[in-house]
Amino acid sequence: MRPVVDNEMLEAAVRALQNEKLVLGESVFKFEEEFARFCGTRFAISTGSGTTALQIALQSLGIGYGDEVLTTPFSFFATSNAVIHAEATPTFADVEDGEFNLDPGKVEPRMTPRTRAIIPVHLYGTPAKMAPLEEIAEERGIPLIEDACQAHGAEYQEKRVGSIGEAGCFSFYTSKNMTVCGDGGMITTNNEELAEAARSFRDCGRSTKYTMARIGYTSRLNTVNAAIGRVQLKRLPEWNRKRQAIANLYRKELEGLEGIILPPATRSGETSVYHLFVIRSPLRDRLMGRLEANGVEAGIHYPTPIHLQGPYRNKFGYKEGDFPVSEKLAQEVLSLPLYTELIEEEALDVVRIVRDTAHMEAKGS
Ligand SMILES: Cc1ncc(COP(=O)(O)O)c(C=O)c1O
Repeated sequence: MRPVVDNEMLEAAVRALQNEKLVLGESVFKFEEEFARFCGTRFAISTGSGTTALQIALQSLGIGYGDEVLTTPFSFFATSNAVIHAEATPTFADVEDGEFNLDPGKVEPRMTPRTRAIIPVHLYGTPAKMAPLEEIAEERGIPLIEDACQAHGAEYQEKRVGSIGEAGCFSFYTSKNMTVCGDGGMITTNNEELAEAARSFRDCGRSTKYTMARIGYTSRLNTVNAAIGRVQLKRLPEWNRKRQAIANLYRKELEGLEGIILPPATRSGETSVYHLFVIRSPLRDRLMGRLEANGVEAGIHYPTPIHLQGPYRNKFGYKEGDFPVSEKLAQEVLSLPLYTELIEEEALDVVRIVRDTAHMEAKGS
């Protein structure tokens, strides 16, 4: 991953540094307005990270001690950590067979009377199946909070992610499709009360300068980072198109290879922004070794599902076999190189190595 830092971003950063309040300066509010417009929501509230965006969204909805929040065990562990930071208890339903996202069919049996929210994750930039999840949430009268930390600009039924649930949460960490060149996050919502609470939570719990409405945090996006984020946001649509073009190339060139399963194709009305292009293969470790031997860095997102991470085993007693689809994915997923500046020739090199390895394995050599 190589974040793009161009002259316009550098100039915006310096301008903000010289002319604005360093905390909650004008660029922060402009970035929020522009991000809300991009997602199609009334409000966007920036935060110090994607993790705190999730935590603050939960707490702004009054979710906390004694509540359960259901999510997927196949995500970056910050998703469920945020639930714990909000003093609630994360619970999990497995992902769908053949997909990477939460299986709506497995959600209902995992819910209890204490379940107060569901967090679907749009993993790798591909939207989760929101419609059936919305139905479940509506029936229960609980909110959906989208973890869109990997999905800036992805669409579901022609709506941008982050505008579908009660709130959407984004991360601007440096590896994401767009960054603020440091840590940062954003909550998107149409809910005015939630927006107001989130603004207060991220700013020490303030209602006015020296009056507190709640016990809040120092989790604001710095002005300089927001100034860079505004320029990054302008570039995002073009960067997403580039990612989609590389993903299409991988799809076309790797189609039908024995031992390689391509990521599920997007359905009509859906757009993936391919934060990652993730194949599955029982040959995963051999493939990764061959790529590395040829100077190509590939990744595993993620080698351990959240429930099998040490702190989760210890705290909640999870064990192997609890969420078998996620556990199998953790053994088989491989993220091929994908970033905006990757050129076609480099992607074709990756294809060649993957093909050669698959053919060698098929021949048993
Ligand atoms: C799916 C997911 N959720 C949450 C986060 C947390 O975001 P951050 O690292 O900005 O706290 C990330 C990214 O790092 C993520 O990929």
